[in-house]
Amino acid sequence: MRWLLRRSTDILLIGGASRLGFNEFRRTAVTSCRAVLLPRFGGPEMLELREDVRIPDLKPNEVLVRARAVSVNPLDCRVRAGYGRSLYEPLLPLILGRDVSGEVAAVGNSVHSLSVGQEVFGALHPTAVRGTYTDYAILAEDELTPKPETISHVEASAIPFAALTAWRALRSIARIKEGQRVLVVGGGGAVGFSAIQFAVAAGCHVSTTCGGESVERILAAGAEQAVDFTTEDYERSIKGYFDAVLDTIGVPETETMGINLLKRGGHYMTLQGEAASFADRYGLALGLAMATTVLVKKQLQCRISHGIDYQWAYMRADAEGLDEIRRLSAAGKLKIPIEKTYSIAQVREAHEAKDKRIITGKVVLEVD
Ligand SMILES: NC(=O)c1ccc[n+]([C@@H]2O[C@H](COP(=O)([O-])OP(=O)(O)OC[C@H]3O[C@@H](n4cnc5c(N)ncnc54)[C@H](OP(=O)(O)O)[C@@H]3O)[C@@H](O)[C@H]2O)c1
Repeated sequence: MRWLLRRSTDILLIGGASRLGFNEFRRTAVTSCRAVLLPRFGGPEMLELREDVRIPDLKPNEVLVRARAVSVNPLDCRVRAGYGRSLYEPLLPLILGRDVSGEVAAVGNSVHSLSVGQEVFGALHPTAVRGTYTDYAILAEDELTPKPETISHVEASAIPFAALTAWRALRSIARIKEGQRVLVVGGGGAVGFSAIQFAVAAGCHVSTTCGGESVERILAAGAEQAVDFTTEDYERSIKGYFDAVLDTIGVPETETMGINLLKRGGHYMTLQGEAASFADRYGLALGLAMATTVLVKKQLQCRISHGIDYQWAYMRADAEGLDEIRRLSAAGKLKIPIEKTYSIAQVREAHEAKDKRIITGKVVLEVD
């Protein structure tokens, strides 16, 4: 059985002779596609859209996704500029991008929950080398979930990486429960806004700091308090103590505020963990060992001085989290507003707009 896909450069062979077993029919043989490659670290001009990029064979647990939309995360711009070079430099050229929404084009032998033609969305792990800025992305089965019909590919592609980061912090680390108080520092961004919506859905009382333009949207999503950090003194405005603080900004000032606003036994989680920057400065082995030492020291200090848990929160693939993300986004309870869409051919322009903060909200690349 052969499938000739729409683009002339894409030839996808699935299976072969009828003598082969059922699983053999689900094996991808030959493909090439467009992809945005990063051959060297640097500015947006480093990004190159190439036509004939080989698609690797699928591993048994992997799914080939015909991408329709991929979102731009801050991590993409940081990696492009050299963040994480201790890990990524030997692996250049990279394909950037974590999020994707599209259709299943082929599945590996052991994939049972998804089938060819199904609309899906999901996100790759932060350290995945072959990203999603391509016509055909490859993700593990547990990194994908069916896309709700009620949201478009563009809307869906903006959600998973940010929402899984928020899920990891609030559900896996802090294990938030109904009735608890949650503070999100920087609730206007994609991770912060996802965290607010998770905490509201879990029945928590949510406060946040954000820019003035985000206040209305955050209150409409169910937060009880949204403090504009540009005009208000948030140390005066935020009253009482919290069970969990998610700090998406993670500068010394917000870290001190977050730690001081926690109840004993509470959890402070910053998104600005230092593992990658230590590794970049001192090499992978020494850098990671030093980062662990710094983290453990901070954890001990916070436990002794405030009786709280201190963590660097990182995005992780999480099938349970993705399932909840699908359920909440289908119900209209988890949304990330999109500020601008570009075609994937305009990827340099999109990165430049993010780098120069011409666009502060979410940017999505459409893959036609
Ligand atoms: N550790 C991880 O695994 C992980 C995963 C994802 C992201 N991150 C990091 O987490 C950060 C947020 O990511 P994102 O995807 O949510 O980015 P984003 O969508 O670009 O959001 C950033 C938002 O932060 C808000 N902000 C900026 N300065 C602030 C301040 N001083 N106080 C309060 N709010 C402030 C702004 O919101 P307003 O519009 O309200 O001003 C801005 O929109 C980035 O630094 C990213 O690299 C880490």
